[in-house]
Parts: sequence; C-alpha cells; structure tokens
Amino acid sequence: MAFIQIEKVLSGEMTGKEVSLRGWIYRKRDQKKLVFIMLRDSTGVVQLACKGIDEAATATMESSIEVKGVVKEDGRAPGGYEIGVSELKIVGLADTFPLTKDLSEEYTRDTRHLWIRSQKLVKIFKIRAEVIKAVHAFYKEKGFIEVQPPLFTGNACEGSTTLFEVKYFGEDAYLSQTGQLYFEALIQSLEKIYTVAPSFRAEKSRTRRHLTEFWHQEMEAAWMGFDELLKMEEEFVLYIVNHVLKNCKKELDELERDTKELEELKIPFLRVPYKQAMEKLGKSDEDTITDKDIKDLSEKLENKPFFLMAYPRKKKVFYMKPDPENPDVVLASDLIVPRAGEIIGGSERISDLKELEESMKLFGLDTKDYEWYLDLRRYGTVPHSGFGMGIDRMVMWLAGAEHIMDTLPFPRTVTRFKP
Ligand code: 4AD
Ligand code: MG
Repeated sequence: MAFIQIEKVLSGEMTGKEVSLRGWIYRKRDQKKLVFIMLRDSTGVVQLACKGIDEAATATMESSIEVKGVVKEDGRAPGGYEIGVSELKIVGLADTFPLTKDLSEEYTRDTRHLWIRSQKLVKIFKIRAEVIKAVHAFYKEKGFIEVQPPLFTGNACEGSTTLFEVKYFGEDAYLSQTGQLYFEALIQSLEKIYTVAPSFRAEKSRTRRHLTEFWHQEMEAAWMGFDELLKMEEEFVLYIVNHVLKNCKKELDELERDTKELEELKIPFLRVPYKQAMEKLGKSDEDTITDKDIKDLSEKLENKPFFLMAYPRKKKVFYMKPDPENPDVVLASDLIVPRAGEIIGGSERISDLKELEESMKLFGLDTKDYEWYLDLRRYGTVPHSGFGMGIDRMVMWLAGAEHIMDTLPFPRTVTRFKP
C-alpha cells in the first residue's frame, strides 16, 4: 500500500479507510494494553491507537516508524482523527531522546540538529519558504532578472567594522557584506536585477535581531530614482505580507500570531526624516540613533511600519546620493517594523564619478581599492537605486518570532557557528 501524508488524514477525506503512514514518534502514552502515539511527518501530527501491538510498546520517542490502520473521526484526539493501528514497523529505533521540556537556551543550541524538529520551528520554516516564494513571484511580475553575487570579495561596502576577514591563498579577502557593488555593475547590462544570497557581518552585538550570516534579498535597478524605489519597497512588502496571509494561515494561527497588524497594513508607509525622528525622541540630530531609540519611535508611531529617512550624510555610507535639495542628508531610507526593527535598507546611489570620488575621500576610503567600481561611472553611468532586505528579519516580523535565531535552521551568531 502506498504511504500517504498526515495532512490527508487530517483533511477528513480518509475517514473509514485503511491508510499507511510513516513518520516519527512525537509523543507517547502507555496504558496497559493500549499505547497512544502522536505521529508526526512534515505535514502534521496525528494520534495512533495501538492495541495489543508489541512494537508500539518497544518504540521510543523520536523513533521512525511505518504504520497501517483505519482512520476514524474522534473529537478527543488532537486534530480530530485517530488511527486504529493494525501493523507497526520500527524503521529506526531511537536512543533516549535528549530533548525534553524546559531546556536551557544554550542546550537547545548545542543540540540544534535535533531541536529543529520542534513544531514551532517547523511552522516558522514553512513561512520562511513562502516568503522566498513570494520574493521570486514579485520580481518575476516586475520583469527583474535573478543574479548571484560572489561571496568572497576584496571590498568593504557597509563600513569596515563588520568585515569578516578570510585568508585567500595568502591574500586578505572578506566575506561579502552585500552584493551591491557587483549589482551596480550588472545593471549596466541587465537593467533590473535581484538576488537571494547570504551576507556576512562580523556583528559583535548580541541582540535579538543580529546574525553573522544572514540571508539577503537585494535588488538594483538602472534609471530608478529614490521616489520610485520607495514605492517599489512598499509594493514589495505588501505583496509578501499578502502572500503569507493567504498561504500560511494555518501556521500563523498555530503560532498564535495576531495577524491584525498584517491584515491592516496600508501603503504608502509613513515617512519620517531623521531630524524629525530625533526631535520626537528629544535628541539632537547630531546624535546617533540607537536600537532603543528606534524601538521607542516605533511605539510612538503606533507600531506601524515606517521609513526612517533623510539621514545626515556622515551617519550613512559612501555610495548614497546626497539629496540635491539638501546635500547634508542622503537619499536613503530604512524600513522599520515592530520587533524586527530595520528590515530593509535602500538608497539612490551616486552615479557621477567626481561626486563618488569625493564621497569616498569624505569616508576615508582609498579610491585605489575601488577602481573597478569607479569604472562603472566612467563607462555609461546612469541614475540607479536599490535596496536590501533581511529575509530572516522579515520572517521574524511576519511569524512573530521572538528571536531572529528562530527564523532559520542553523543560525550563526557572535557566539555560535556549530553544529
Ligand atoms: O542596511 P544594510 O546594511 O544595507 C545593505 O547592505 C545595502 N548594501 C543593501 C542594498 O542596498 N543592496 O542591510 C540590508 C538589510 C537590513 O535592513 C537588515 O534587514 C538586514 O539586511 N541585515 C541583517 N539581518 C540580520 N543580521 C544582520 N547582522 C544584518 N545586517 C543587515
Ligand atoms: Mg541598514
């Protein structure tokens, strides 16, 4: 008999029929002659009632098994169905499973390879997969071409403090912080590109929102100005939110994510200039905005997503275009959402050679290290803009995850790169 998946049993369509299932023992309860097993597979969890079946008594938590039995509706069983098992075969008998309830954070991280079986993480990983699906669908609709950046690089792009240095056959190289500089090269032929790729930051900060290896969804477009970029970000975020609301309803419900905030999401988002933000916080615009400030600001704005923009030039990065109407600030914005904080950073880039060289000097960079990048302004430069979204942070927001580590299977942070 062919195996079916648990979701088919839970849909009700197999009631009264004999089915074969395979999966892992999620929970087990022994009552003299009767053993109740909660069986899980990738699609759900279902109750098995095993009467007079010796293997059921032998099988341990997290053993993998194959079973045959008849499905019946049962209001007492979680999910509403129970299988009266007639045959049970143990495929992989598990040793005593080291994970029980109330484990320390540290222990669950040491045993991450087992902990990822947790039903909570499974739901978040499914939402993550849908977010990435939505990303590809969005860019397809918009006519963008997918590209892949190199991950070894010779250039800093987002400041030198978060660079991971690696030995590259005796030379110094870095792990990429962003593919942006390469995307700026690619738009001179492909015009509109996007990617989903890892980026690396040697972030020493231990926060709920920082990874050292994160998944970066970046786009870059020739001929695109700053206003158009902001509109595209808004449309993009709304698209992903709607896709997840539509396709992950079950997961969001099971995670007890209150989706009101997502259902009521409206564009355009609020646009808050840096100066105004600092005024609201009772600070001077000479001050640097902290994570705590951003959280406070978010609360003041009723936890609605907003663009924090018009940053003073020196607080940002060398490639960002100064606003022609107020050159002290740059045409850059960060999209802020509750809990996850900044999920997108984007800007119009400096497209003029002289202006870019001057900006590099202002930021203390040696133009010699960026000759190839400057070439892009020498040979047919065009106005262009782009953004980068942290996929992990996006998932954190959408799934209502407490910690960014819950959004991907094997998170890398300042204190951890194993298992
Ligand atoms: O704001 P960032 O640093 O912007 C860039 O890297 C640009 N070059 C992107 C571009 O315009 N192509 O990073 C973009 C986003 C952030 O908004 C954040 O969501 C995420 O990447 N991010 C991180 N996510 C997790 N852990 C970290 N350490 C992150 N650093 C950035
Ligand atoms: Mg940023």
